[in-house]
Amino acid sequence: MNATDAWLQPPPQTDAGHLAAHWMPFSGNREFKANPRLITAASGHYFTMSDGKRLFDGLSGLWCTGLGHARPEIVEAIAKQAASLDYSPAFQFGHPLSFELANRIVERMPAGLNRVFFTGSGSESADTSLKMARAYWRLKGQPAKTRFIGRSKGYHGVNFGGISVGGIAANRKLYGQGVEADHLPHTQPPAGSFFRGMPLQGAELADDLITLIQLHDASTIAAVIVEPFSGSAGVIVPPVGYLQRLREICTAHGILLIFDEVITGFGRTGHWTGAEAFGVTPDILNVAKQITNGVQPLGAVIAKQEIHDTFMAAGGPEYMLEFPHGYTYSAHPIACASALVTLDLMEQDNALQRVRELAPSFERSVHGLRGVRHVADIRNYGLAAGISVESAPGEPAKRPYEIAMSMVRKGFYVRYGGDTIQLAPPFTSSVREIDSLLDALAQTFHETA
Ligand SMILES: Cc1ncc(COP(=O)(O)O)c(C=O)c1O
Repeated sequence: MNATDAWLQPPPQTDAGHLAAHWMPFSGNREFKANPRLITAASGHYFTMSDGKRLFDGLSGLWCTGLGHARPEIVEAIAKQAASLDYSPAFQFGHPLSFELANRIVERMPAGLNRVFFTGSGSESADTSLKMARAYWRLKGQPAKTRFIGRSKGYHGVNFGGISVGGIAANRKLYGQGVEADHLPHTQPPAGSFFRGMPLQGAELADDLITLIQLHDASTIAAVIVEPFSGSAGVIVPPVGYLQRLREICTAHGILLIFDEVITGFGRTGHWTGAEAFGVTPDILNVAKQITNGVQPLGAVIAKQEIHDTFMAAGGPEYMLEFPHGYTYSAHPIACASALVTLDLMEQDNALQRVRELAPSFERSVHGLRGVRHVADIRNYGLAAGISVESAPGEPAKRPYEIAMSMVRKGFYVRYGGDTIQLAPPFTSSVREIDSLLDALAQTFHETA
């Protein structure tokens, strides 16, 4: 019996009573428990389901396993690390791997972003960056700079700061008061635009930031936070010149610019960061997901040195904390071990180059869906695509759900979110795998009522 078989024995229980206790995240719990989809193993580009069926992983897990599943090098590094240093207190003590990893991350960041604060997830990175921004201004003697500007359709995780700056209404409306935030308009072109890559029009949407500054005054605004391209809302790509314009306005008005690169960081764009891909450097850059190839929870907030140094200068006696913030699992040794090997594998697999090479054929295949029944729009960048689905009357989220379920029956995992289907295949995918994913999707759209 090999390791995979071991996990498949005995068959998992799927009766409603057994499934009741786990209240699942971002899931239709009632639907899932009536039709469980249990994944019992993963290897390379494929999941194995409890009934033995294989699914091509068309979203790299949740945008996080770009190098494929169960890479032996990562498995081995984790096992070794667990045996030698399974946990090290995150506060007031250190372990060598986090320092090594911070240096290796900095080497891959745009120049000037060189201080790494570790978190355990993308949501923690978002809230950490917002706290860092507010504290920075307080330490600079401008305590009124507390407001944030996010963007409509933006996603910054699920904690209170993240949902406040986020712009997906469904993620916020149940939870009441958040932190003070206003929002830029999104940059999604009208349905039917079918832009390939970056839209040529729309840079002027960044000028709405000037209107928000006139409304609130820069003296009350700590930071603007955006994803270089929005992933969770269905791959909304910045118009040419848009991020440059945001950068200019932030600089001119003394407002920090934060890029949430939880999806765009570490390869999805064909570059280490969206900042590099789009040629704009923020003041703070958040990452998670792909940093460990999804194998261990880890995130990071990477700040310009001046931000870090402001905390150090204001820190008081040296035994005092400069930034009273952190998590039990910040820079967890097993997560760091997994990230270090992931960086090695990114180089070994030539992952960035592969993404850049695959991107044009991926773009062609995805845009091959244009004209297919129910396809309202298609957007893409690097190895990511969002397909807007025409709404069934009164139920915008239903058809994407039905399409995703039908794809499972055909042997493909894709994400459905809002009125979109989202694709982010592994960096190491073959053109054939991508083509069969898109063929199956075209057929599924055709078949869907
Ligand atoms: C841009 C962005 N920020 C933050 C998050 C939240 O990350 P996590 O689910 O690890 O908390 C996500 C997750 O999809 C994301 O796409």
